[in-house]
Amino acid sequence: MSAGIDDRRFLIVTGKGGVGKTTVCAALAVHLAGKGKRVLVTMCNAKERLSTMLGSDLVGDEVTSVGPNIWAVNMTQDKALEEYGMLALKSKALYTVLFDNKYVRVFFRAVPGIQEWAMLGKAWWHTTETDASGKTKFDVVLLDAPATGHGLDMLRVPKVIVDVVPPGLLRRDAEAAWKMFQDPKQCGVVLVTLPEEMPTQETIELAAALKNELKLPIAKIVVNGVLPPLFSKEERATLEAVPPFEPTDSGSAALLSGQARATRERVQAESLARLSMELPVRPAFFPLLFEDAANPGSIRELAKRV
Ligand SMILES: Nc1ncnc2c1ncn2[C@@H]1O[C@H](COP(=O)(O)OP(=O)(O)O)[C@@H](O)[C@H]1O
Ligand SMILES: [Mg+2]
Repeated sequence: MSAGIDDRRFLIVTGKGGVGKTTVCAALAVHLAGKGKRVLVTMCNAKERLSTMLGSDLVGDEVTSVGPNIWAVNMTQDKALEEYGMLALKSKALYTVLFDNKYVRVFFRAVPGIQEWAMLGKAWWHTTETDASGKTKFDVVLLDAPATGHGLDMLRVPKVIVDVVPPGLLRRDAEAAWKMFQDPKQCGVVLVTLPEEMPTQETIELAAALKNELKLPIAKIVVNGVLPPLFSKEERATLEAVPPFEPTDSGSAALLSGQARATRERVQAESLARLSMELPVRPAFFPLLFEDAANPGSIRELAKRV
């Protein structure tokens, strides 16, 4: 049995660049915090925009509060690696001795995927982090995953470490993380997409790779930027059937705009139908807001759609 989006401890938000991953992270954070969860949003060395969305101070590489029950951190590889080294060695002095050694540095950096793991591992580690009284610090950690290539590169890394790195602390942590990532009660991937042809195709491929190759559970699909339909199916067909022409007055220019809108709505309807048919999870729809969504009011609106 898989859990709903509200009950998981680690959510990986992924999708192509610009589709609205950070917007969805912000909306998810507000939604979950509203349910009384303590939420941490982790970003991967991002050009930080979350603070604009939530109306907080800029988020750096230390965990900071960005709203009621919401914290955030913009992770960097070097800082994350340093923290990991210190955590592993339980001593700053020992870390300095070891990691200021050029050979150790070179060796550590040669571990396959270590740069990605530094951040993914840190994000995962925050799910295990406890306060002084032994209580878990965060109920849920969101990972605003990088938009590299297929979005899968980072998620492949723990498996690579489990497969190729000799036993030891690094492999132990990667194994624990990988086990959690695959458990649909605890973890899930949130796929963000747009109601357009290419993103739809890529999302279906991404979902297949998650299912078949990585065996990671999908917690949710968010279709972002959905237009309210102005035309019925018949009206769309009528508009699209008008042959190309040069507009001569405002009436014919309006007809051309209507035609363009009809095409967009048709592509959207086709994309939504495909996504609903081919994906294992029913999508949530985020409307295309009239103004840019990067402000707290818009994020609160979108949070209601989770
Ligand atoms: N539903 C929406 N309506 C209006 N603007 C949006 C919407 N979703 C995202 N945006 C805007 O689009 C831009 C890209 O969104 P962002 O979440 O930063 O994408 P990503 O993190 O995937 O690169 C931002 O300026 C954001 O405010
Ligand atoms: Mg982003």
